[in-house]
Amino acid sequence: MAKGIDIGTMNIICSEKEDGDIVFTQERNAFLELESSDLTKTMLDSAQVLYVERDNVVYVLGEDAFKFATIFGKTARRPMKSGIISPSEKDAIPTIKLILERVVGEPRYRNEVLCISSPADPIDTNMNALYHKKMMEALARKMAYKTHVIDEGLGVVYSELSEYNFTGLGISIGAGLTNVTLAYLATPVMSFSIGRGGDWIDEQVSITTGLSKEYVCAEKERGFKIGLEVEYGSADGALSIYYDALMTYIIKNINRKLAEITPPKVEFPVALAGGSSLPAGFSEMFEQKLREAKLQIDISNIKRAKEPMYSVAKGCLIAARAQEGEEIWHEEGTEEIV
Ligand SMILES: Nc1ncnc2c1ncn2[C@@H]1O[C@H](COP(=O)(O)OP(=O)(O)OP(=O)(O)O)[C@@H](O)[C@H]1O
Ligand SMILES: [Mg+2]
Repeated sequence: MAKGIDIGTMNIICSEKEDGDIVFTQERNAFLELESSDLTKTMLDSAQVLYVERDNVVYVLGEDAFKFATIFGKTARRPMKSGIISPSEKDAIPTIKLILERVVGEPRYRNEVLCISSPADPIDTNMNALYHKKMMEALARKMAYKTHVIDEGLGVVYSELSEYNFTGLGISIGAGLTNVTLAYLATPVMSFSIGRGGDWIDEQVSITTGLSKEYVCAEKERGFKIGLEVEYGSADGALSIYYDALMTYIIKNINRKLAEITPPKVEFPVALAGGSSLPAGFSEMFEQKLREAKLQIDISNIKRAKEPMYSVAKGCLIAARAQEGEEIWHEEGTEEIV
């Protein structure tokens, strides 16, 4: 059976197979700490909110943390920042543990494999992902899973490029980071991350327009289309400008890293995934920029994941099943655009 888990800055997503279908369980990677009182608990109970109580403190986890933050006049906290455990959040590890317990549940049998995605080391910031990776692995092992860790970009390759024998460039554009893996026959040839993703776009647009980050993020997620026509002063106009800048930056760094390796002389398909690849027009603009950049590898076609938010979790499930000795299955999971 086996399970996969994508632990992201914004979303924690578990994948497992049930009756032949892949089932995803998702939770926002956020929490709200409230002082425990009968009134608070009654209010949460009547709203059917799942919470955890420890040492006179109530923890509201996931999406509900945002819903209840306003009611209680508090701010929801995020255990991760820029793709890894937030160094400034003292409760980061225990709350990720609680969210994991809820999303993944207990193993269904002894030595069930849980494959975890981890960011690759960023090349443009001075942090590294080792501590985060080891902590996540330890949490999963404590839950009695047999653990296996793969890079997030490799998760995209496993999920989207099975019909190419897991050869290609997998790119996950998330909230805190963008992860990139070039794989040849399921083996990473190059893997790195970049410290920019959806959060960076929200911040930049907020700084330049004076709009709040929360408003910008909501606008972005509410059907924003990447357009060539920019209306001056609008949130959409600024979003288009920073999406353009993000793509240019990602491709510049892919080119820079490719110069450091000697990739096999084959054609590589590209798969795009992650929540920040969702806006209409993303794949088309990315493809145009990628072709113009004349990379040092030959690109065949460019695909966007059918379900960009679930791609990494699905890739982790495929890796977990392979670890358990089950055959890696091939299926149409992608949407071809060229
Ligand atoms: N419809 C949408 N349009 C644009 N952006 C979106 C949309 N829905 C979600 N996002 C953005 O996608 C990002 C979350 O994507 P994802 O779940 O892939 O990230 P993550 O895995 O949690 O983060 P990371 O991999 O960086 O740690 C956020 O920046 C969010 O604002
Ligand atoms: Mg991610």
